Amino acid sequence: MKNILVTGGAGFIGSAFVRYAVEKYPHYHIIVYDKLTYAGNLENLLPVSQRANYHFVQGDIADREAVRGVIEQYGVDTIVNFAAETHVDRSILDPDAFIMSNVVGVHILLEAANHYKMERFLHVSTDEVYGDIEGSYFSKENDPFAPNSPYAASKAGGDLMVRAYHVTHGLNTVITRGSNTFGPYQYPEKLLPLFITEAIDDKPLPVYGDGMQVRDWLYVDDHAMGVDAALHNGVAGEAYNIAGENLQHNIDVIRRLLSLLGKPESLIKFVPDREGHDRRYAMDCAKLRAIGWQRQYSFEDALTRTVEWYKNNESWWRKIKTGEYLEYYKRQYAARLAAAGVSL
Ligand code: NAD
Ligand code: TYD
Repeated sequence: MKNILVTGGAGFIGSAFVRYAVEKYPHYHIIVYDKLTYAGNLENLLPVSQRANYHFVQGDIADREAVRGVIEQYGVDTIVNFAAETHVDRSILDPDAFIMSNVVGVHILLEAANHYKMERFLHVSTDEVYGDIEGSYFSKENDPFAPNSPYAASKAGGDLMVRAYHVTHGLNTVITRGSNTFGPYQYPEKLLPLFITEAIDDKPLPVYGDGMQVRDWLYVDDHAMGVDAALHNGVAGEAYNIAGENLQHNIDVIRRLLSLLGKPESLIKFVPDREGHDRRYAMDCAKLRAIGWQRQYSFEDALTRTVEWYKNNESWWRKIKTGEYLEYYKRQYAARLAAAGVSL
């Protein structure tokens, strides 16, 4: 393992992995390959931009020629694939891009990895492939898939292609499945960064349904270290869950962040639910622990760090909350908030 192509490395979790790996492995070359969609942001990589073992190439994982070009240019021997369309709400509004990046893009990367006989192909996936998890059950890696959103279904499609390339071609693959991740540099459309930045501006917080859905919150640096553990210690052909081990009802997380910000609960607005909304995600991550990973951050510490980061980095997110972002926000929330008596 010498020259690692990190696809989607300009996004939220990918950039955390790159910042971590560039420091930890000075003898590796880390080549970020990213399309720079609305969610990609080179500012996320500024802390490592001057490092000699960091390189950046703009490109699409679904572009076969460009993928082969970057692999040949840098002698890539390992791929870590974070690149994806990632927001469930956008997958309900506009699913096409999810199929292109999360299914076709993964297929093109796998073809290239097989063609160039890569040492390892690590694919970053999600707990959402297991679907809605009832009762007190915790998903295990070999459980059947039951994705419910176009996002989750497209990720499940990618996972199955990875499995097929291992079984059919003997490609050295590993899959990680992370739970709901939060922390600095997260595009302000998912629950935590959206609500933190909106609350800072005293804007209404649109809680879907009754707010009693359960998610397992994972700090981004713990996610990045889980990917690293699986990359180095994972067994070929296996998948590893990366869980936050911190199940919470949405409404409790929202109340906690309002209290950290010193903002009133009157900002909470219950709005019509997301279509097909999964009630609960929960995973068992004993398999990843057995190969050397352990969560480093408590939820309380991680949430406090995250809230502080958004308070101290307004220039990062205020730049994003313009143009395309505002159009998306209106499309997603105007009618929902109106139903709760709030006009935008
Ligand atoms: P993100 O939306 O912040 O970033 C995605 C990155 O991929 C962006 O930099 C974007 O420009 C890039 N990208 C998208 N399509 C591309 C394409 N076709 N070619 C090249 N680059 C492309 O995403 P994230 O939250 O950092 O998620 C990273 C990975 O982790 C995804 O595979 C996602 O499914 C998975 N994941 C995310 C979470 C979460 O809570 N955010 C949880 C579990 C798993
Ligand atoms: P999200 O951050 O979109 O992640 P995911 O859908 O992948 O779990 O949402 C986390 C939870 O928060 C989920 O139950 C949906 C809920 N949610 C809201 O209630 N309001 C919102 O505006 C958003 C974006 C999410």
